[in-house]
Formats: sequence, structure tokens, C-alpha cells
Amino acid sequence: MDSRADVVKQLLMDYASEPASTTVVAFAPANIALCKYWGKRNTALNLPTTTSLSISLGHLGATTTLRLNHRSTDCIKLNGEVLDPNISFSKRLRNFLDLFRFENNFYFDVETHSNIPVAAGLASSACGFAAVVLALDQLFQWQLPKKTLSILARLGSGSASRSLWQGFVEWRMGIQDNGSDSMGIPLDIEWPELRVGLVVLDPSAKTLSSREAMQSTVLTSPFYEAWTNSQKGDCANLKQALYAHDFERMALIAEANALRLHALMLSASPPILYSNPETIHTIHHIWDCRKKGLPVFFTQDAGPNLKLLFLEKDIDSIQKTFPAVQIVNPFEPNWAAKIPSGGHPA
Ligand code: PMV
Repeated sequence: MDSRADVVKQLLMDYASEPASTTVVAFAPANIALCKYWGKRNTALNLPTTTSLSISLGHLGATTTLRLNHRSTDCIKLNGEVLDPNISFSKRLRNFLDLFRFENNFYFDVETHSNIPVAAGLASSACGFAAVVLALDQLFQWQLPKKTLSILARLGSGSASRSLWQGFVEWRMGIQDNGSDSMGIPLDIEWPELRVGLVVLDPSAKTLSSREAMQSTVLTSPFYEAWTNSQKGDCANLKQALYAHDFERMALIAEANALRLHALMLSASPPILYSNPETIHTIHHIWDCRKKGLPVFFTQDAGPNLKLLFLEKDIDSIQKTFPAVQIVNPFEPNWAAKIPSGGHPA
């Protein structure tokens, strides 16, 4: 079986293995899955059991400065703080960077600024790994096609494969053992009226990583096969609704997909429950609003926070009903002007 190092070697065979610059900056947007990825057919290469589909969040994401350092270890900073090299995220990122040292002895300073809550089920690892890959591409001046960068980002975190583009992105599961056909594909759909609302109910870092949770679900849920079977239909129907700009249909599919994911997690052993009482309360509130005529829907990832889906025409009602909501326009034409300076837009 191919290892991550084999995949990287193959992809970068004809490209430079010595950095051409010393400092680079790159930005990648966070993405929210409307049709979720949950489970791997190959855990080393992050190859998924199903195709998934997401929307990127414009200027919300990770800006990463990458620098060669002259010490004998990487230094990883997140939002201004040096991370303890022994925590699992530092180890995960260092292992990922190992793939790009080739035969050389260089190490990196990685400084990431994320303008979304980190590790609270708001897709922070996705934009983090995508930004690192975009920065590596600049540092070595590879100028790789985005689809190749998507494969590299996937090796860091599965959902990172979708953070290379703005807008709607489909991550095709692929069928090849080495993952050469498992990458993000941007969909040619603009939807300027669509809005995503971030409702942060608990900003603290989750205690169970999505990596562990998804593997436990795959291994222990009696319903896992039913989940993979239903994903095909969900993704296809979702795409149809997106192309037709049919908001209600799209949002109903996305909401049902998230609910099914969380039901699936509950069926794992031991059960996985990311929702807290506030999550449940807010879901009921959303359903009440809908009954009263406000077209608002939600999706939820590996954390207690919710993301609302609604249209521009309802912004005022949404703001009144959910005062703490952070509203994102995924198709904001000026999104690049809003990212912290220096980040090259994805
Ligand atoms: O790529 P990971 O390991 O962060 O997993 C992402 C899992 C979900 O956010 C729950 C679903 C998804 O498709 O993004």
C-alpha cells in the first residue's frame, strides 16, 4: 500500500525539493460541508468512503506564514502563541511537514492566524492544512495545479481537500488505492444571495477529534453501511438543488444530512455526542422559526456549534432572532480585501 511519503514523492517527482524563497504567506478559506465526509477507506491517506460537498467561507479561514528556520525543529505558532510541541496538533503538523523535507535538514516556522474559532467543529484544521500546502507551493515555487494541491492538503486533513477554492466544492471520493482521483473539484455555481450564519454556542476546543470519532463510527456503528449508501443520493440531490438555486431543497437536504450524521455518531460504541443542551435548544428554535415562516436551516459538524443557512432577504430577521450570529456571504465579491494582509487568496 502507498504511504503518504510515496504519494508525495510521486506527485513531486519533477518538482524542486529545495525552497526558492525564505518567507511566504498564504490564505485558505474554511469550508462547511453540506453533504458530510465521515469515515475513511484508507486512514493513512485520508481517503473517504463517500463523496462530500461543501461551501467555502470567503474571508474566514487561515492565513499562514511559512519560513525556513535554522534550528533543528519546527516552531508552530497559532494566533500568536507558540504551540507546545507535544500536543497532538503540533505532532500532526510536524509529521505532515516531514513529507516535504525530502532528504534535506530544513525546518519551518509556521505561523497561522485563524479568524474562526479553532477546533470547535468550525473547520479550522481544513483551512489550516490547505493554507500550509498553498504556502509550501509558494516556498518551493512548484506552481502545482490546484487539484494536486488538494490531494496534498487531503494528506493533512480530509476536509482540507475542499479548502483550496471559494464557492461550492465537491470532494470526489475516487476509487484508486493511492488516492490520485480523490480531490476537490470546484462547482461552477454562483449564489450571491446565499448566507451562512455561524452560531458559536461553545468556543472551547473539542475533546474528541473528528479523526478519532469517525474511525470509531466506521468500526462500531451498525448503521455505517446505511450512511455510505444514502450519501450518494444526498450528494446528487444536493448538486441538483444547487444548480437549480432551489434554496429550500438544498437547505433541507443539508440539514437532514447533518442530522443523519449526528444520529450515526450516537449509534457508535461508545456513543459520540457533540451536541450540548444549547445545541438542542437552538435546533428547536430554528424549527420553530421555520414553522412561523422564516426559511432558516442548519448544519452541524464535529462540535456543538451550528451553522445557519438562509438567504440575504432574511438577514434582518435572522439577526433579530439569533443576535450572536456571525453572518458570512460566501460569494462576497470583496472577500480578498477582508483577509489579513499578506495572504495570497485561494
Ligand atoms: O477533515 P476532518 O478530519 O476535520 O473531518 C471533517 C468532518 C466534518 O467536518 C464533520 C464533516 C466534513 O465533511 O467537513
